[in-house]
Amino acid sequence: MIRFLLDGQVTEIEAGAQETALHLIRERLGRKGTKEGCGEGDCGACTVLLGEIVEGTVQWRAVNSCILFAPMLDGKALVTVESLGTPDRLCAVQGEMVARHGSQCGFCTPGFIMSLEGRARGGLGTVGQNGPRPVADVLSGNLCRCTGYGPILDSAAACPPALRDDGDVLAGLAALPRGEGENWHAPRSADELAALLVDYPDARLVAGATDVGLWVTKQLRDLGRVIFIGDVADLRGIEESEAGVTLGAAVRYSEGWDVLARLHPDLGELVRRIAGTPVRNAGTIGGNIANGSPIGDMPPALIALGATLTLRRGDVRREMALEDYFLAYGKQDRREGEFVEGIFIPRPAPDAVIAITKLSKRFDSDISAVLGAFHLSIENGMIARARIAFGGMAATPKRAHATEEALIGKPWEEATIEAAIPALARDYQPLSDVRGSSAYRLAVAGNLLRRLWLAHNGEAVSVLEVGHD
Ligand SMILES: Cc1cc2nc3c(=O)[nH]c(=O)nc-3n(C[C@H](O)[C@H](O)[C@H](O)COP(=O)(O)OP(=O)(O)OC[C@H]3O[C@@H](n4cnc5c(N)ncnc54)[C@H](O)[C@@H]3O)c2cc1C
Ligand code: FES
Ligand code: FES
Repeated sequence: MIRFLLDGQVTEIEAGAQETALHLIRERLGRKGTKEGCGEGDCGACTVLLGEIVEGTVQWRAVNSCILFAPMLDGKALVTVESLGTPDRLCAVQGEMVARHGSQCGFCTPGFIMSLEGRARGGLGTVGQNGPRPVADVLSGNLCRCTGYGPILDSAAACPPALRDDGDVLAGLAALPRGEGENWHAPRSADELAALLVDYPDARLVAGATDVGLWVTKQLRDLGRVIFIGDVADLRGIEESEAGVTLGAAVRYSEGWDVLARLHPDLGELVRRIAGTPVRNAGTIGGNIANGSPIGDMPPALIALGATLTLRRGDVRREMALEDYFLAYGKQDRREGEFVEGIFIPRPAPDAVIAITKLSKRFDSDISAVLGAFHLSIENGMIARARIAFGGMAATPKRAHATEEALIGKPWEEATIEAAIPALARDYQPLSDVRGSSAYRLAVAGNLLRRLWLAHNGEAVSVLEVGHD
């Protein structure tokens, strides 16, 4: 049985581990305003808002209901497009969308409305350390195929975030008892999670479900027993110190965004380039690592920065360099009953030469063809240390040891860079696939190294300047 607030009422309903929230909303609650477009987190037609208590207030976040599992609604407030206005009494966002001709079709419009409503409520991912994020970033997970973005952006501009009184929601959420299911668990503490995984080592962990959701909607896989870890409080911690940043494994991209941007601006830009807002509001950095994809964006960046992982089984913890976690394609160094508990990213020296660049066909919401991450220390004009890692170049996120060796101990000058570029072919024999040929990948990897030198000398266009705003 799961329990959530829907328009102020407690809704109690049985839910299986892998029923999607979208199915529950449309087919069992009869709320057909929430649409199914892609069923894989790309289009935003299925966007809903979830509210939960964070630091004593209600935090709203737009998420894709198509790749969210129904038990993940447990203990939350759910807002669908029907919760907002009625035809004769539109909410502010709906009113502006109508007045400014922001709605062309019924498929994407509900999703845009929900993302804009999330912004109007100051929801997760819509406000950063420097104030409201650009509307184009907030809407990066909503597709309009009829090119109606202009009026949609105008509607958003007319609906600035406003203060709300969420007192009733807060009280309602605080009073909700915890749900339970036959084939799923939702522990609240890391100790509880650790004990469950010892009892059920074959259980499937689900954090944000932005990878696992697609295994169900696209590959029709059976997940078996599931342990949802999104509400494990100890895995949601963010600690910032002189030494660096420690993130609990279940910290979502939108939650870790500012702290990562403070560690290095390129890390912040990388988060901005991962998926779109609803996926960033659900997907976790720990899930990106644990999934072990060769094109996951965080691992190469964090390897270059020297990150370490903490894994835990029962009460036993072990630490390892992040790069050692990835053993082979689809194989990580995670033992039976273990889970990723946290990630530590050391603070780079202020004078370190760092660049993290993601190459993909679209700026927003696209998967990397190649991601290059470089971290060099220069002492007395010489390259003293180098950590370089790439995504999209091998079966795992992988360090470029031969290239690093070709750089270390050499003068920090263009000739050294040019002489090191051929070493990339010793580090990587990339595959050809839909995102790029092997030759393309090797060529751009070399160009990214060249770009590091040019950027250092103020001759490369900053990735910050090629965005959409
Ligand atoms: C539309 C869309 C766009 C995307 N764009 C990008 C992109 O630009 N770049 C990118 O890198 N990725 C992208 N992704 C992939 C995905 O969002 C990320 O990999 C995300 O970080 C996964 O995190 P999650 O919490 O959703 O993981 P989940 O789907 O919940 O889990 C992923 C895997 O990790 C395991 N796992 C999760 N947490 C732990 C833990 N603490 N310990 C052990 N195992 C664990 C799960 O069992 C599962 O095997 C995209 C996905 C979608 C749907
Ligand atoms: S239906 Fe496209 S993101 Fe959910
Ligand atoms: S309004 Fe739906 S495709 Fe543009």
